[in-house]
Amino acid sequence: MCGIVGFAFRQPFSAKEILTALKRLEYRGYDSFGYADNSGACIKRVGEIAVDAAPGSFSRTAIVHTRWATHGGITETNAHPHADCTGGIAIVHNGIISNYRELRGDMEAAGHVFRSQTDSETIAHFFEGKDVKKAMPEFFSRFQGEFAVLLIRKGDEKIYAFKRGSPLVLGIAQDGNMVASDIYAFSNKTNRAIFFNEDEFAEITWEGWKFYSIGEGAAPVEKEITPFSWKEGEELGEYPHYMIKEIKEIPQAAGRLLLSLQAEQKPAVEKIVQMMKNAGRVIFVASGSSYHAALIGVQFLARAGMEARAIVASEFRSFMILDESTLAIAVSQSGETMDVIEAMRGIKAKGVKIASLVNVPYSTVQRMSNAHLNIAAGQEICVAATKTFVNQVIAMAYMASMVGYKADFASLDGCIAKAFSQEERIKEIAAELKDRKDIYILGRGISYPVAREIALKLKEISYVHAEGMMAGELKHGTLALIEDGTPVICLMPKNDKDIVSSAEEVKARGARVIAFNGNGIEEGVKIGGADAVAFCIASTIAGQLLTYYIAREKGLPIDKPRNLAKSVTVK
Ligand code: M6R
Repeated sequence: MCGIVGFAFRQPFSAKEILTALKRLEYRGYDSFGYADNSGACIKRVGEIAVDAAPGSFSRTAIVHTRWATHGGITETNAHPHADCTGGIAIVHNGIISNYRELRGDMEAAGHVFRSQTDSETIAHFFEGKDVKKAMPEFFSRFQGEFAVLLIRKGDEKIYAFKRGSPLVLGIAQDGNMVASDIYAFSNKTNRAIFFNEDEFAEITWEGWKFYSIGEGAAPVEKEITPFSWKEGEELGEYPHYMIKEIKEIPQAAGRLLLSLQAEQKPAVEKIVQMMKNAGRVIFVASGSSYHAALIGVQFLARAGMEARAIVASEFRSFMILDESTLAIAVSQSGETMDVIEAMRGIKAKGVKIASLVNVPYSTVQRMSNAHLNIAAGQEICVAATKTFVNQVIAMAYMASMVGYKADFASLDGCIAKAFSQEERIKEIAAELKDRKDIYILGRGISYPVAREIALKLKEISYVHAEGMMAGELKHGTLALIEDGTPVICLMPKNDKDIVSSAEEVKARGARVIAFNGNGIEEGVKIGGADAVAFCIASTIAGQLLTYYIAREKGLPIDKPRNLAKSVTVK
């Protein structure tokens, strides 16, 4: 994953300033961070970015990196920047060099001495003693995998920036230029950007930039400046964690999305719905929570009589059946998930049209799509998807309603409020469940993806092993695991008799049943929601709150859970 930033400014800037910009990319990884400037100064630290880590450093050209470890453990040595043997070159890298073993073997045989276990260090050694610009075509032909790289040389006021696969964007400021993994790094300093295309490199100084395309024989290319606007994420305010702040923002975010779908996003939603009708069949491609939202979307569309499937992005190739009667819809909060982008590349190669639902504007997924909707949830900082998942579900329901699905959007506010009214009860349940090792969540039909979503939240944020499953499948095996006191959350939409039987079955075997709605069983949490959309959203919120309060009881790092990152930019 990782985030990278480079600054080239007319006036010297402090390490603190560029590390502050890097801090804005910490959602891409927080295992370690590092700084290098063109005086040869370099610092590396394990852990979250400490903006005061290099108090005395000022320069006019510097690069920084925040890491999500892929190759090599979480150590200072493996933290970026990496240098060549002479220390004259420093690089930061986001991506994975897939043939690094072979490259490293060749380089070591030629006498290069490696310090780290990373794939990235090969990049610094490759350029050692070379004219960087002239060596670029050879680099692109020898290095495989994904990379966005920033390279500086000691004593030189220039940043070389180059990319294949991983995102990279230039930000144009008044007295200098910035380059980063995404616009968020510099969206408080400029609203003008140039996005790198595949296999491009640039020479960047404070005075200007030159872009070159490897595909065109490393010839110079003209680039378009894209003006952008970005609403800054609000501060944490009175909340102890972003997760609870973002859950509490759900009513506002949901209202904002519904309004925008009826107003400024009306043409976009109509375009996508027309694409769906023209194609006749929809395939959603997504990962994690976005995949669960897509599973719900499949059911909304099925109820409207439209054939739809949802496929996990990383497995897309194994299931790919694409023809002109298919519309692919990519669903991604960040718009930078590499599994989704890879799947989209395959889809595009088959000439199939792609629409997307994204939250982060100007993201790669959005830019790769033929049409897109913005789910308008606002910036989400906690690693867990909360308000964005809810808005994805609303966007799905809205599109389905335009092809005949009957959703009662008017009941949404009331249901959301009802779920929040259960917060104290949920806290009590969280205190009771905090030491449990396993929790099961049962759903049926439209509540099955919600069960999976709640299980994912419990795993990533509360560190509890959780299984979200189809209630009907219980008796085919998993029932053997139910014993005295095993917690089982049953998602019980009103009028669903079958889920009541499943709840009775586990109860008869000693399970501690926590019913979201009672339907005759002792009620754990009152969700309400006669409408399917409302029930999905209300039970999701109850599950999110439960997860949050279990994690709080356990004193866990809620917003930045171990081993994870918000934006998963590697395969
Ligand atoms: O940005 P995306 O929606 O593409 O991200 C997909 C998953 O990585 C993401 O939903 C992940 O599962 C969340 N951390 C879940 O809370």
